[in-house]
Amino acid sequence: MCGIIGYRGKREASEILFEGLKKLSYRGYDSWGLCTSSENKFSVSKAIGNIEQMDIDYSMFAGNIGIGHTRWATHGGVSEANAHPHLCSLEKVAVVHNGVIENFQDLRSELKSNGHKFKSETDTEVIPHLIREYMDKGADFVDAVRSALLRLEGSFAVVAINTEDDTMVASRRGSPLVVGMGDNEYFAASDIPAFLEHTKSVIYLYDNDVAIINDNVYVYNLSDMQPVRREVDSIEWDVEKSMKGEFSHFMLKEITEQSETIKKAAEQDAEAMKRIALEINNAKGVFFVACGSSYHACLSASYIFSAVAKMHINVVLASEFRGYKDFLCDKTLVIAVSQSGETADVLDAVGTAKEKGSKVLSIVNVMGSSLMRNSHHTLHMNAGPEICVLSTKTYTSQLAVLTLLAYACIDKYEDGTGVLDTAHNLVYNLTSRSTRDYIKCLADILKDKEHIFTIGRGLQYPTALEAALKIKEVSYIHAEGFAAGELKHGSIALIEKDTPVIAFVSPQNERETVSNVMELKARGAFIIGIGPDNNEIYDYFIKVPETGYSDPITQIIPIQILAYRLAVLRKCNPDKPRNLAKSVTVR
Ligand code: G6P
Repeated sequence: MCGIIGYRGKREASEILFEGLKKLSYRGYDSWGLCTSSENKFSVSKAIGNIEQMDIDYSMFAGNIGIGHTRWATHGGVSEANAHPHLCSLEKVAVVHNGVIENFQDLRSELKSNGHKFKSETDTEVIPHLIREYMDKGADFVDAVRSALLRLEGSFAVVAINTEDDTMVASRRGSPLVVGMGDNEYFAASDIPAFLEHTKSVIYLYDNDVAIINDNVYVYNLSDMQPVRREVDSIEWDVEKSMKGEFSHFMLKEITEQSETIKKAAEQDAEAMKRIALEINNAKGVFFVACGSSYHACLSASYIFSAVAKMHINVVLASEFRGYKDFLCDKTLVIAVSQSGETADVLDAVGTAKEKGSKVLSIVNVMGSSLMRNSHHTLHMNAGPEICVLSTKTYTSQLAVLTLLAYACIDKYEDGTGVLDTAHNLVYNLTSRSTRDYIKCLADILKDKEHIFTIGRGLQYPTALEAALKIKEVSYIHAEGFAAGELKHGSIALIEKDTPVIAFVSPQNERETVSNVMELKARGAFIIGIGPDNNEIYDYFIKVPETGYSDPITQIIPIQILAYRLAVLRKCNPDKPRNLAKSVTVR
């Protein structure tokens, strides 16, 4: 949700910032802007639209220091004026920000009455004016930034520069920010792909850290300006993984990577898994907490835990978790699942759990994320960077880690890796070109439909929910997922001649699901069956051999491909669907 980047070094900043912003555009892409500083003045450019489709004239910019931003609008509409960076009235201070300043209205009135001229409707604009106000009162730039940040309520990741010296200040509270340590050059960004091609050495900033970046990087605590020690970590991610390569979109690339990423997810430290399994077994109440696709992975896993480990897990949407706080105690275990590790609702839920003394285990993909830092233990999905806004490979990686955990709980960890081995081999075939071509034909049939329904029972039910989410978020065709037995309780009213229904089937629930399918077929539905065995009732069939508890991993693959194809046919950008952001850092 908004991507920010800052650069200070020996090269021209503009190209590095512009290219970095393109890599961050999955975090928000309604508008963008950048600003460099040279000879006591800024060069600024802002535009509405997706930066990936744009070019800029680098000769407009000068300077080895600068900041950039790609926006996902919260306060104020999508306009050039609201795009960051925001500057103080005298254009001496520039700021990019990710987060929400909750007291911005009070600050804005105060600053306006002190003569500051506002040009945007954003909450962010109070920050450069506040910094300037403190500088006018005699503070140097760093002190002024600190004083300004201490006045803010809410969440922020901020990078600020000024025209008077070459110091860049970066600070965070509740929104992600990582510093890249190059060779006599430094970066500050919301996420690593922004600068991965320049350096793999990073410092993860913690809440209330302030990094002063000039000839080196110095980290202090925002409240008392005492130095804090932060390790320089080395990133294992491959630069190639954050590039599209031969693929036209990241979505397709990431779908095809899944055979490999499932294998990587299964490469957990067996001893650590066993220790965590012991904690799960000893807990008095276990909650899975997540949002979006991660929530669907949790819902699937609750069926697997029930069947494999005979264990009841409460699965709660992170945004609803507060309502369960009275059931939490110091014996409760909360398992928070998040690709980004930055989803605000998930972080809030973890905060609630910790207030009640509960233990928190997280399953994350992005190393160094806030969730990781707020958890007692973390398991990594090891899926590498996921750039497409839609989650595909990280969804199946989450399923893989959760499946392993279920087996670890009954001390049969190795059986779990066996199950994933089968999935890994099958996913290789399911993502092959021939399968993709076969699904293209289905996309042609469905591309102009108004609605698509998806159904499944048992382990196939969460897959139906995830399938509907994938289709609607990327193709904008209305899609809704149901428990197969539930569609008849009301929503069947929407079934007309040729309404497409995708049915996920396994031998364990085939009889019941097929009888639900018949009810729909009798009302004219066009039935697409996904499962191990064809049935004459299906109008279209996609064979996915049975993999037992790996079915949620394997059966979603054809639908990820279908969703991708529908988006392409309907001329939607699969990597950046409208209104969405990959990492939702607001509540
Ligand atoms: C956003 C994304 C979804 C994702 C959800 C949870 O809404 O668009 O694709 O599933 O956040 O994200 P997380 O990073 O917590 O898994």
